[in-house]
Amino acid sequence: MALINKAIFPVAGLGTRFLPATKAQPKEMLPVVDKPLIQYAVEEAYAAGIRQMIFVNGRNKRAIPDHFDTAFELETELENANKRELLSLVHSIKPDDMECIYIRQPKALGLGHAVLCAQCVVVNEPFAVLLADDLMVGKPPVLKQMVDQFAEWQASILAVQEVPAEQTKRYGIVAGTPISDRLMDLSHMVEKPAPEDAPSRLGVAGRYILTPGVFREIATQPRGVGGEIQLTDGIAALLRREKVFAYRYEGKRYDCGSKEGFLQANVELALDHPELGASFRAYLKALEI
Ligand code: G1P
Repeated sequence: MALINKAIFPVAGLGTRFLPATKAQPKEMLPVVDKPLIQYAVEEAYAAGIRQMIFVNGRNKRAIPDHFDTAFELETELENANKRELLSLVHSIKPDDMECIYIRQPKALGLGHAVLCAQCVVVNEPFAVLLADDLMVGKPPVLKQMVDQFAEWQASILAVQEVPAEQTKRYGIVAGTPISDRLMDLSHMVEKPAPEDAPSRLGVAGRYILTPGVFREIATQPRGVGGEIQLTDGIAALLRREKVFAYRYEGKRYDCGSKEGFLQANVELALDHPELGASFRAYLKALEI
């Protein structure tokens, strides 16, 4: 039975919504409380049993490979100062059994194109795609829930959630036949429709498990919404040949691609933080907003 061992992280976007913060650093390195967004996504993949992390990188993204690499000077200094806890914190960013692979996306041609850039590494296995600016909090972690669904169905699984009617233009929107409380057999999928054209209000969150057949479909798609090669269009073509399921995950998504979602994530994760939570809560109360 096929297992999921590879995850693709498309990280070549320009992050224009977060300028000027993203002028010289990738948006995936913006920290929520004390960890960069990309680390949350990598930890979620690791918790789902995935050990090969494939980053589809662009220009100006050196900080991402550096984050998952050895930091010789820092580690030597921490060791000399006998700062054991900090040293193990730094080591834990990349566990020994985790492999990081970097692929360059030469042009920002869209999410579908980014995924296609990783085909040479994935070849013929089912794989996960995680969009790091969607920060997902779930127990079990959202991708783990999806891997469990994959183990049962051996078919592509997309994470979905209900979105407000006026926001369909921000998402891939799915439609199909419900087969259980949380699962839907897809018949239809469209990228960023206007509310009046949306086939439902179920929007795709940035977590996918896909079968390798999707590569062939993406490769033959014309440019879609925004002039980009869309992953949604590739999946819409795939579901004419194979079963594709939408899975209503258990958990919460923070849209850290927007300033509002990013701020919400910072406040809520700070409130939940084992060391900062209590004092931060007291601080917010004292603000008397
Ligand atoms: C991408 C996908 C879209 C999905 C969304 C989730 O859009 O194209 O289908 O619903 O991520 O965050 P983007 O947010 O990159 O425009």
